[in-house]
Amino acid sequence: MSVTLPIETERLLIRSFDAEADSAPMLGVYGDPEVMRFILGGALADVEAVKALLDGYADAHRSFGFSSWGVVERASDSLIGDVGFAIFEPTGDIELGYTLARSHWGHGYATEAASACLAAGLAQLSAERIIAVVDEANESSLCVADRIGMRRVSVISAHGRPHVLCAAK
Ligand SMILES: CC(C)(COP(=O)(O)OP(=O)(O)OC[C@H]1O[C@@H](n2cnc3c(N)ncnc32)[C@H](O)[C@@H]1OP(=O)(O)O)[C@@H](O)C(=O)NCCC(=O)NCCS
Repeated sequence: MSVTLPIETERLLIRSFDAEADSAPMLGVYGDPEVMRFILGGALADVEAVKALLDGYADAHRSFGFSSWGVVERASDSLIGDVGFAIFEPTGDIELGYTLARSHWGHGYATEAASACLAAGLAQLSAERIIAVVDEANESSLCVADRIGMRRVSVISAHGRPHVLCAAK
């Protein structure tokens, strides 16, 4: 059970991270407090913290066949964020996540990346459903989940805050 990479869409390429080369550009994403407002732990402090995270993603991919991957804007060949899967421990479900550099919000890129990633996950991972767990106040993320056809199933408490559990089959 493993997702085949890269995943190509009209404007984007989804590929594994290269921790050495990608840590500096990803600090522009994970180091931005506004981007990380709804992410547990908040903004990362420096490039070493980003490298540790990307190394962890590579380990997860080797262990589970999925992880968070890099999103590249094909026209500019720029790394602009992440998309991919993790295990949501409280339920054991595979959880979809997506994060974009603020400079690349508002172009439909998150929807494009998340939609392709969800389709690959549903086709290639033997999961009954794939979920997204979104802070109730994170309207942009809820809009992405809605646009890619995830259904709002329930409101749960996660990290001490109400979150909407969205699911796709
Ligand atoms: C969640 C997040 C990725 C959403 O980013 P986003 O830019 O709102 O979402 P998209 O990339 O899908 O872009 C959608 C917007 O682009 C617009 N758009 C412009 N050109 C478009 C095009 N060619 N195609 C589709 N949409 C387009 C849409 O109308 C929409 O605008 P609206 O929000 O005003 O309705 C972003 O807010 C983010 O990185 N947040 C921080 C991380 C985070 O919270 N992640 C989720 C954790 S659960």
